Amino acid sequence: MQTLDYGSIILDFSYLISAILFIIGLKRLSHPETAKKGNLFAASGMLLAMITTLILHKNASGGGIALANIILIVVVISIGTVVGSLMARKVKMTAMPQLVSLFNATGGAASMLVALMEFGNPNNSPVLVTLLGLVIGAIAFSGSIIAWGKLDGKIKTWYARIFRYINLFLLTLTVAIIVFMLLPVSEGVNVNVLLYTLLVIALVYGVLFVMPIGGADMPVVISLLNSFTGIAAAMAGFIYKNQAMILGGIFVGAAGMILTILMCRAMNRSLLNVIVGAFGGGAAASSDKEVGTVKEITLSDAAVLLNYAQKVVIVPGYGLAAAQAQHVCSELDKLLTDSGVEVKYAIHPVAGRMPGHMNVLLAEADVPYEKLEEMERINPEMPNTDVVVVIGANDVVNPAAIDEPSSPIYGMPIINAHEAKRIIVLKRGMGKGYAAIENYLFYNDKTNMLFGNAKDSLQKLVSEIKNL
Ligand code: TAP
Repeated sequence: MQTLDYGSIILDFSYLISAILFIIGLKRLSHPETAKKGNLFAASGMLLAMITTLILHKNASGGGIALANIILIVVVISIGTVVGSLMARKVKMTAMPQLVSLFNATGGAASMLVALMEFGNPNNSPVLVTLLGLVIGAIAFSGSIIAWGKLDGKIKTWYARIFRYINLFLLTLTVAIIVFMLLPVSEGVNVNVLLYTLLVIALVYGVLFVMPIGGADMPVVISLLNSFTGIAAAMAGFIYKNQAMILGGIFVGAAGMILTILMCRAMNRSLLNVIVGAFGGGAAASSDKEVGTVKEITLSDAAVLLNYAQKVVIVPGYGLAAAQAQHVCSELDKLLTDSGVEVKYAIHPVAGRMPGHMNVLLAEADVPYEKLEEMERINPEMPNTDVVVVIGANDVVNPAAIDEPSSPIYGMPIINAHEAKRIIVLKRGMGKGYAAIENYLFYNDKTNMLFGNAKDSLQKLVSEIKNL
């Protein structure tokens, strides 16, 4: 009679529980209110999979993991845990993309090393999976290191048209080497030479792929590299035939890819355009549209306008984050709400410089989530809005996206601030936004500018309203 292998059954069952926890975690990550718990769900799924693997995994000859290896793994994981949590605790909100880049780099490196070590191991998966894990992991590793350096101001963007051709050549070479290694003709050739050549090409490709991308496009690239890390981890999972690794990798890969696509869509640009476009480099769209005059507003007039409005919509943008004006913005909101004004926030999906930037910023200042309205929901309310207050936002309220086909942002969905009865724009001067183009909203008859650093202007506005 065949005896049941309870260890394997428990291990498989624990992977099933882990997968369920990953899915619940991902679902909960989709809303700011449930995101923290979502993170805990997914992390506990990973912890469960790691512990059960360490205890119950059996190698090809049926034995468990050697005690010395278990000790080594636990020590390394402990070091990683301490370093990771210290970094995550210390990181400033604005440096979050750099941290994500570093984490992506470590994920890519891990998959790359697994593929390198396991290549040629007859117990593991087909060669193609190993080679893909190596290449994708190496690109994610070197690309993420460059992304981190660029975001941190340590590496400058280096754009040259020739990069496109070099990258195309490197990609073709990579495919050619992989195909060659899979064919019987490669027998007799020193495969290790080919393997390390592939590794070097992938590492160089990662560098040259990220190097020319415009600084402010980096969030899209980071999300793409995150997706690569997931795919590489899934490949490593295939190498070890480990379901938890495969599933975890696929979830990260798919989530990263979906976020990349959503960001591109919200900017009305293709991924290819982000990668080779060098967007926002100062090229303004030519337009024969007549520029009107810019009207300023005094603090007292702005205070009266806001205090006696029925409905006010705040449109936050990158300038709010740059000025760190979220707390005083929340104070203005409370003041107006207390005097009976309905206050809402219009959140554009790519306002700021990273996904969810505005949500995180406003949550930090205790703005209730129910006040934050997504673009699709708030736009129909714009014609009934008495005053829209644009705080350090520019591109995301630029009507050129609707009525100027020659504009680089034409077709990008925007917050229709121009449809409100009055518009007050808080910014330091007539500086352009990320897309480096003129914004005719500022010249609109209904618009008044309140020039100055967003935090200072809001502070003065708050005291003015208090004195009314
Ligand atoms: P932007 O279009 O970049 O405009 C920000 C405005 O804030 C500038 O015009 C600037 O004008 C003003 N500003 C800067 N510092 C300020 C301060 N201290 N006080 C007051 N105003 C200040 O921002 P947005 O409307 O949020 O749009 C975001 C842009 O980034 C979009 O084009 C988007 O496609 C791009 N992008 C976003 C992401 C993500 S994921 N969020 C990723 C990649 C690219 P002054 O200089 O005159 O003050």
